[in-house]
Amino acid sequence: MQLMLDTANLFEIERAMSLYPISGVTTNLNQMQSEGNLDFFGHLKSIRKLIGEERSLHVQVVGQDANTIIAEAERICSILKENTYVAIPVNEEGLKAIKHLSMQGFNITATAVFSTLQGILAMLSGAKYIAVFYDRMLNNDIDANRVIKELSSLLWTNTSNTQVLSASFKNIAELTSAYANGAGCCTVRPELLSTGLDMPSIHKAVADFSMNWDEVHAGKSILDL
Ligand code: E4P
Repeated sequence: MQLMLDTANLFEIERAMSLYPISGVTTNLNQMQSEGNLDFFGHLKSIRKLIGEERSLHVQVVGQDANTIIAEAERICSILKENTYVAIPVNEEGLKAIKHLSMQGFNITATAVFSTLQGILAMLSGAKYIAVFYDRMLNNDIDANRVIKELSSLLWTNTSNTQVLSASFKNIAELTSAYANGAGCCTVRPELLSTGLDMPSIHKAVADFSMNWDEVHAGKSILDL
């Protein structure tokens, strides 16, 4: 089971890396654009520096036709090197590129997946991750849990190296449902994790423990005993 960060913001990545068990960072073109940074590769290199070489970095292509996608993937990987995953949308041109690049040994994250069919085709084409767009599916009345469940069980049955990478979360219930339905990996915006840990019940439980301790050991910590 893996957890990734779904952001291109350097400050968020640095903070979240120090707090959470993170396996990688996913970026998309919207996130890169919202950083307002014109130095595309410079920014990605900064992310790589923060997460280290062993974690995965997922970078989306811009091209729409297979030849351009392939050329962009080659450039992305030649610059960002090990553990870089090229995120390619699953449509006909995307699949053509995924098939070609996977055969050449590139790591591919099939993205913009809204259906089991897209996931199956991406899996058969050699993608390592299938990025299922959870909240966007719900917005279109698509049963995201069913798609995740179907893809996860197909992946088990076929002992494939591919994992469901569920993405596009807007709340914690979506995130935990994705895991519970079989997603091997989820990618989230860091603030969602902070929100989940900022519940009044958690604060109250911690405050109560502390108050009870103080009643007996006023002002002392375990280190003072
Ligand atoms: C993964 O990187 C996806 O592009 C991302 O989760 C989509 O998120 P959004 O639906 O919030 O744009």
